[in-house]
Amino acid sequence: MSLDDITIRESKLEDLESLADLYCTLWTNSLRNRGDFEDALLAGRYNIAMQFQRSPIALVAEHDGEPIAACCVGIFDEGVPRTNPYWQARYDELLAMATERAKDADERLEGCLFGDTREKATADRFAATGNDYAQGQINLIIIRPEWQGKGLGRALIDRARTELHNAGCTKFFLMSDNRSDYEFYDHIGMTRIAEDHSQDTGDGFIVYVYGDEA
Ligand SMILES: CC(C)(COP(=O)(O)OP(=O)(O)OC[C@H]1O[C@@H](n2cnc3c(N)ncnc32)[C@H](O)[C@@H]1OP(=O)(O)O)[C@@H](O)C(=O)NCCC(=O)NCCS
Repeated sequence: MSLDDITIRESKLEDLESLADLYCTLWTNSLRNRGDFEDALLAGRYNIAMQFQRSPIALVAEHDGEPIAACCVGIFDEGVPRTNPYWQARYDELLAMATERAKDADERLEGCLFGDTREKATADRFAATGNDYAQGQINLIIIRPEWQGKGLGRALIDRARTELHNAGCTKFFLMSDNRSDYEFYDHIGMTRIAEDHSQDTGDGFIVYVYGDEA
């Protein structure tokens, strides 16, 4: 498995199922472990569509016709995130489904459905302060486990940086947390510019904000 056989391209609606499955594998274990596979899949579908909808640069890495990774890149116009019209209708549809399901959801399901949405609200508040890093944001980077550790993550960050630079950004930020592989960003030399403990409900959850030059 070599990076030479990988194409990085714009996302398509047809990528959603495969990437939702990847999202589920990485982040909805607490639902899947108790047998809530349908809810886990809804969380995966909604969250992938949500990330793409707020990423005018919505990239997918493909191998043998299959999506193996996604990298979602956002741009802020004076503190307001630009949306991606291509994903709007699918996002609206899945938001309505997730909102309906959340009406009688317990805390665990609600967290899997809307935890990332709350993280975006935190990002928007950060951007609204006019921080110099808040010109662009890497909204999401996920790679199939069997393709991790081969340089694809670094390649996608480099591609995102180039895209942001071409879009006129000089700096960008991203948010990660201690349930994700945040140490990757330390390793590739990004600067940890803030951390937020306000969402720690006793479970030790910490959000990290990283920044870099575009
Ligand atoms: C985090 C992730 C994007 C990294 O992508 P990757 O393709 O596995 O990383 P690369 O192979 O490009 O690694 C580049 C360098 O970072 C290092 N690295 C990779 N993952 C790391 C981690 N979790 N912690 C510390 N260093 C890491 C590699 O060892 C490599 O180092 P080197 O160049 O000095 O040899 C990927 O593992 C992933 O999708 N994880 C699950 C989803 C996730 O947590 N996303 C990020 C947080 S929101």
